[in-house]
Amino acid sequence: MRVPIFVTVAVVRLRIIAEGLAALYQIPMAVLSAPGSGLKEKTAAALQEPLTQRLGFRLLRAFLPNSPVFSKKFITTYPNTGTALVTRHDDVIEVLDRNADFEVVYEPRMRAITGGENFFLGMQDTALYTRDVSNMRLAVRREDVAVIVEPLARQLAAKLVAGKAGRIDMPPELSLPVPAAIVTDYFGVTGAPDSDLMEWATLMFRYLFTDIQGDPALEHDALDAAAACRSVLDAAIAKRKTSGETKDDVIGRCLVMQAAGLPGMDDPGIRNNLIGLVIGAIPTISRAAVQALDQLLDRPEAFASAEQAAHDGNDTLFAAHVFEALRFNPINPIIFRRATRDTEIAAGNFRARKIPKDTMVLASNLSAMFDRLKIEAPESFRTDRPWGDYILWGYGMHGCFGAYINRAVLPAILKPLLVKPGLRRAAGDAGQIDTGGTQFPKHFVVEWD
Ligand code: HEM
Repeated sequence: MRVPIFVTVAVVRLRIIAEGLAALYQIPMAVLSAPGSGLKEKTAAALQEPLTQRLGFRLLRAFLPNSPVFSKKFITTYPNTGTALVTRHDDVIEVLDRNADFEVVYEPRMRAITGGENFFLGMQDTALYTRDVSNMRLAVRREDVAVIVEPLARQLAAKLVAGKAGRIDMPPELSLPVPAAIVTDYFGVTGAPDSDLMEWATLMFRYLFTDIQGDPALEHDALDAAAACRSVLDAAIAKRKTSGETKDDVIGRCLVMQAAGLPGMDDPGIRNNLIGLVIGAIPTISRAAVQALDQLLDRPEAFASAEQAAHDGNDTLFAAHVFEALRFNPINPIIFRRATRDTEIAAGNFRARKIPKDTMVLASNLSAMFDRLKIEAPESFRTDRPWGDYILWGYGMHGCFGAYINRAVLPAILKPLLVKPGLRRAAGDAGQIDTGGTQFPKHFVVEWD
């Protein structure tokens, strides 16, 4: 007998409430068992943990899916008048879809990075946005992923792992060098040591997206990094032009477009677009690869199944393990937008929330990916989810430019490790992600037999 739909819906909603109630007990337990001396320290440490974040969102989804608008500014680096938190899948998607009502805020810092101009992630839905994205899509082509980017990542990752005798510090020795090679060999950004590219890109990324309280020391370092990166890009473009070399890489294609007179493709235009791509590519891929492996290592059954898929050469299944692992700890738990006018989220629902103009809206993609109303068995590790269940790199107009690169490169980085016999965390602190207080993995050591 078919269960009537209203029964199914009622059961799901009761379960959401029960899980929310359980979270009321689980959150204090997570705080008490977190490292640190006082309650404040423990709470701060607990909130860094993806599990505690997920519990918090579980509680909110059950009882307060769209928070009231707080006058407290959670993010002070970009102008706003207060903060609202959005946790349900439908509402997160709504915020990220309504570009005219919820704008990206990054423009001032994008201009600081480029030394004047905006970059398309800092732009609203304008002709300039369409021009720049279209130009860069002609230079960074989807078909390159299979024929250039994935083989490059796969071969380099295999070589880097093969060069190690049973132990690797993932960020400096694998997960950063691979995207750095994409930047040098595929984008064509030559002239700086890889270590500089990795450091500059990470500093600029932190300045743009994670420096929510405006750290002056970080600003100083990030702007220095931006100036250095701009010089390298200028030199790489100039060298290509004076040498007459006609290489079919991203810079080469940009110069072909320049020669054809395409608007936005003068030298500074090429440089500004490339700097955005360098920032987007390096720290993100590294962090995602590390966090995915960390989550897999926490789940012996899923880990064994990922190992098996890697051994069997079942790349689709292996990749499904990687993305599912990342769902439990994506590199960003929220995406922020600012209301351009007085408006409302989830209009017509009990959870509807009025949002005044200039409120910073924190749309939680992490929470959305665990919303039982939308995601089947969200707490289970499953490798058969539809791709649409994932919000690992944004959504909508500003969804990640490198989305298809990520889907190919993350498994390519991790596969040579997962085929190693007895892959495990190194003992002690070395086997835990060390961010050095930056949110970006600096060290994470794994070993094999
Ligand atoms: C696993 C790795 C990556 C993650 C987790 C990631 C994450 C994200 C997220 C969350 C956004 C949306 C930001 C927002 O809406 O405010 C985004 C956009 C973007 N990403 Fe990525 N990214 C990754 C890799 C890359 C790569 C490899 C590139 C360059 C090839 C790149 C370039 C960009 C650009 C240019 C945008 C802005 C797109 C637009 O405004 O239309 N990202 N990414």
